[in-house]
Amino acid sequence: SRNIRLAVIPGDGIGVEVVTEGLKVLEAVGTKVETTTYDLGARRYHETGETLPDAVLDELRGYDAILLGAVGDPSVPPGVLERDLLLRLRFELDHYVNLRPVKLFPGVETPLGRSRPEDIDMVVVREGTEGPYAGAGGAMRRGTPHEIATQESFNTAYGVERVVRYAFEKALARPRRKLTLVHKTNVLTYAGDLWARTFDRVSLEYSDVQTDYCHVDAASMFFVTQPERFDVIVTDNLFGDILTDIGAAIAGGIGLAASGNVNPDRTAPSMFEPVHGSAPDIAGQGKADPTATILSVAMLLDHLGLAEEAARVEQAVADDLVERQTGWAGRTTHEIGDDITARVAG
Ligand code: NAD
Ligand code: IPM
Ligand code: MN
Repeated sequence: SRNIRLAVIPGDGIGVEVVTEGLKVLEAVGTKVETTTYDLGARRYHETGETLPDAVLDELRGYDAILLGAVGDPSVPPGVLERDLLLRLRFELDHYVNLRPVKLFPGVETPLGRSRPEDIDMVVVREGTEGPYAGAGGAMRRGTPHEIATQESFNTAYGVERVVRYAFEKALARPRRKLTLVHKTNVLTYAGDLWARTFDRVSLEYSDVQTDYCHVDAASMFFVTQPERFDVIVTDNLFGDILTDIGAAIAGGIGLAASGNVNPDRTAPSMFEPVHGSAPDIAGQGKADPTATILSVAMLLDHLGLAEEAARVEQAVADDLVERQTGWAGRTTHEIGDDITARVAG
């Protein structure tokens, strides 16, 4: 079959550890993969001052997909690697869909005691290139008692419509066919108005999709009290960031949450990564759960049209998760990776 050309950015902290396991599983799938590793992250920044050189960005455009661990390190000021490396990749490669499934696998413990897998099975379509993440803003009288800091949210008709359309298509393809817009239209009247009008207008083309609206504060509550309300959610970049950490928590923990930064138009490679960060508190100890990265590899395979291979990886994870009920305690990052790899290899 075809050869996948994959760029790998392990990044910082546990990013390096979990990506190692993700690649192990990918190799066991049997698809031919040619990987090139890029040493972007804290170490390179300290050594050269570089975050994402233009030449590297251009090279990355030539791959079929990118697998990323996590970036961010306590030795680097907040925002340097996050903005100039991670967000720059999402923006430059036009990852306007940040796809984040929130799915409770059978046998996984959830803080919502009574919840069953059928109660927690949603997909958050988080906008990936706009909103407050666009980065405009500034500080006046910085450092004085009269400082004023602004951080603007950018919402374009073009950007909102394309992600809303994607979400409707996603909802249409799922059995429940329900799509919820999550925003804060009662306070963010300009941005919320654009989102709501766009959502309502596009919905006219999707009479088979049941639509709903929820303010983000209430949605946060319903994630915990009634997760079964949600099927597909479409929301702004920042709301989606926060909601998907809650989503991760209710579906068994941040160590299981996968994501794809998707360019649906395929004008550039999509990038797959766990929802979690570099976890400096446990880095280098072999304690990180690689499952989120392994599930992100499944999303990557699916994106590249390898549905059967993706399903095999997801099934291997599902089987491993069932067994964790009894034998999970104390397994290292490598051991979990090895166990899932063995299942994939058959
Ligand atoms: P984090 O996700 O790194 O960690 C939050 C908590 O979850 C920590 O206690 C950590 O130990 C735990 N955790 C995370 N992943 C885990 C895993 N796979 N297995 C077990 N436990 C896990 O979030 P944070 O502490 O807010 O951020 C740390 C750094 O990571 C910051 O620099 C932040 O900017 C960055 N970050 C990067 C990404 C990314 O690259 N996509 C995402 C989030 C945060
Ligand atoms: C995530 C992270 C990033 C985000 C940060 C590190 C820029 O929290 O991938 O969820 O906010 O998108
Ligand atoms: Mn986040």
